[in-house]
Amino acid sequence: MRKAAVLLVVSLAGLSCLAQADDIEKGKKVFTQEAQPSCTVCHTLSDANSAGAIGPNLDELKPSRERVIKAVSGGVGIMPAFNESLSSEQIEAVADYVARVTGGDK
Ligand code: HEC
Repeated sequence: MRKAAVLLVVSLAGLSCLAQADDIEKGKKVFTQEAQPSCTVCHTLSDANSAGAIGPNLDELKPSRERVIKAVSGGVGIMPAFNESLSSEQIEAVADYVARVTGGDK
């Protein structure tokens, strides 16, 4: 009985890991392909193999999820706003992605 409960917990944890990996892939796709112009043109982010140097280096900035959402939705300085070209789901995915791979949400 107890063993079954442990197994259940372990498999649920496994499932949520899979879901997280999925989200990361989704956000990475927004970062590298779906955003127009692509975030990679202007930003360095090692996980996405990008070396853009127009905007801040995101590996160093380590922005929180909220900070990315704010920048992407409303634009900052010469960075364009993406709130008309990306859905809020895409903006949240890219924010989760950037915050997670840079450690911005730790
Ligand atoms: C045309 C170039 C360009 C593109 C494309 C671009 N950015 Fe930026 N980004 C910038 C610049 C420049 C800044 C700094 C603006 C300032 O501080 O004046 C910036 C700032 C940021 C910041 C920091 C905001 C803050 O709070 O200081 C984040 C996070 C960010 N960008 C994420 C993204 C993401 C994610 C994408 C893709 C959806 C993206 N950027 C696309 C140029 C760009």
